[in-house]
Amino acid sequence: MTQKFLDKVYDARDADETRTLYDDWSASYDAEVSSQGYATPGRCADALARFMKDQTLPVLDFGCGTGLSGLALKLAGFATIDGVDLSEEMLAKARAKRLYRTLTVIEADAPLPVTPGDYAAIAAIGVIGAGAAPISVFDDLMKALAPGGFLVLSLNDHALQDRTNEARLCEWIDCGAARLLFRESGPHLPGINLNSNVYVLEKN
Ligand SMILES: C[S@@+](CC[C@H](N)C(=O)[O-])C[C@H]1O[C@@H](n2cnc3c(N)ncnc32)[C@H](O)[C@@H]1O
Repeated sequence: MTQKFLDKVYDARDADETRTLYDDWSASYDAEVSSQGYATPGRCADALARFMKDQTLPVLDFGCGTGLSGLALKLAGFATIDGVDLSEEMLAKARAKRLYRTLTVIEADAPLPVTPGDYAAIAAIGVIGAGAAPISVFDDLMKALAPGGFLVLSLNDHALQDRTNEARLCEWIDCGAARLLFRESGPHLPGINLNSNVYVLEKN
């Protein structure tokens, strides 16, 4: 199979170009990443399930794409999942999976339509870093949680190359605004030898 999008997704681009890329990728995304063993959604969902005991509480799947992350959350036991994403076409694929309570298109520069306390947990799976959302999103997601809320996220090898990405997590942890519950390196897309770190943070 030709790696039509994985060959170029990690190049830098702005939000409009990112949306266009994912709109164009939506039809073949699931097949392409699955063929490379996309493992991060399952790792993130299992990590969150270790800490969030009431799995009936709502979870926001930020950058839900076609719903592979929502599927992993469902398989890990989470019952109530909302999804948001930049790309209308990716969301259309997610809608067809019938996993989500709601699915909403968002703009990259608009405030997240979330009030702290709406979600017991937020997931940003395969979303932050080169080829997707900037690290400023991490601050927005932390601010969208109430104290005691969980954020599960991944940073792949490309995202980890830019030290400022993981450093942003440390800023929250080091000043006591969040607690790091889990950090683990493992496979992301093993077919192309790409790994990721999975993190679970609890907001203080
Ligand atoms: C690699 S896909 C991951 C999708 C899904 N979470 C998964 O694990 O399959 C990245 C997704 O993030 C979305 N995205 C990128 N930048 C975003 C932003 N600033 N806000 C919301 N979604 C964004 C893209 O449209 C795309 O659907």
